[in-house]
Amino acid sequence: MSKKIAIITGASSGLGREFARQIDEIDGLEEIWLIARREDRLLELAAELKTATQIMALDLLREKSFDILESELKRQKPVISILVNNAGKGKAGSFTSTDREYDSEVVLLNVQAVMLLTKIALPFCERGTRILQISSVAAFMPQPGFSVYAASKSFVLFLSRALNEELRQQGITVTTVCPNPMETEFFVNSEGSKNISRIKSLGLEKPQKVVRVALSRSARGKDISVSCFAAKTIRVIAKIFPHRIIMRVISWLVN
Ligand SMILES: NC(=O)c1ccc[n+]([C@@H]2O[C@H](COP(=O)([O-])OP(=O)(O)OC[C@H]3O[C@@H](n4cnc5c(N)ncnc54)[C@H](OP(=O)(O)O)[C@@H]3O)[C@@H](O)[C@H]2O)c1
Repeated sequence: MSKKIAIITGASSGLGREFARQIDEIDGLEEIWLIARREDRLLELAAELKTATQIMALDLLREKSFDILESELKRQKPVISILVNNAGKGKAGSFTSTDREYDSEVVLLNVQAVMLLTKIALPFCERGTRILQISSVAAFMPQPGFSVYAASKSFVLFLSRALNEELRQQGITVTTVCPNPMETEFFVNSEGSKNISRIKSLGLEKPQKVVRVALSRSARGKDISVSCFAAKTIRVIAKIFPHRIIMRVISWLVN
């Protein structure tokens, strides 16, 4: 019989590492596949988990990494019980201030990698499989000053909600997770160490809670997970008011 596995990208720090720790507590999983570039971090994490692991030190900016992953899936033929598409990057700044290479990497990692890995994984999913796609509160509307990142996360939100509907008959749940800012390596790098904006600092979430709520909502077949009051408020505001007006207010508050 095929072994039941979980796959987590970006497991070497922040939210991904927390997903690994909480998924480790789920019964019935035989292996957790941990993906990121920093192998030493993955090995450290693997040592603290009860569940067996497979370490895959892959750079998801390289298309070859997806060939490696697909061949491994075809060779071992596991059932993917949980897939967490979590690896991501982004940097605050005006569109003209961020460099071309960096922005291309944001699109490759946040958009293309999520799409490719989901496609590669689906043949190994079955009724009951849970896919969690890590988006952001930034997905709810365009964000001047964080434009490429916010647009990349909107892609994840729209792709994943559509997939959830497409896969409903097959009993596969796709839950899009939209956290508010969390104080991880991402947050420090994306905002620059000098000034973490006061507005963003107000609604800082703890990765532990984001993961707990996300896993609970995905277990209940929900298509979206928003785990704090501030993010829920932003979502409602983005639905009610014209984005043009909200963007003006944000620009005014931030500058
Ligand atoms: N922190 C926030 O404020 C916040 C808010 C909303 C949403 N999010 C989203 O949450 C997710 C996790 O972010 P985080 O806050 O936990 O940040 P983090 O601590 O910086 O984690 C990012 C993870 O992505 C991996 N990664 C980066 N580039 C990669 C590449 N080329 N190939 C493979 N893996 C790569 C990193 O591992 P290696 O460096 O070892 O490769 C790391 O494990 C991201 O999708 C982010 O957009 C974050």
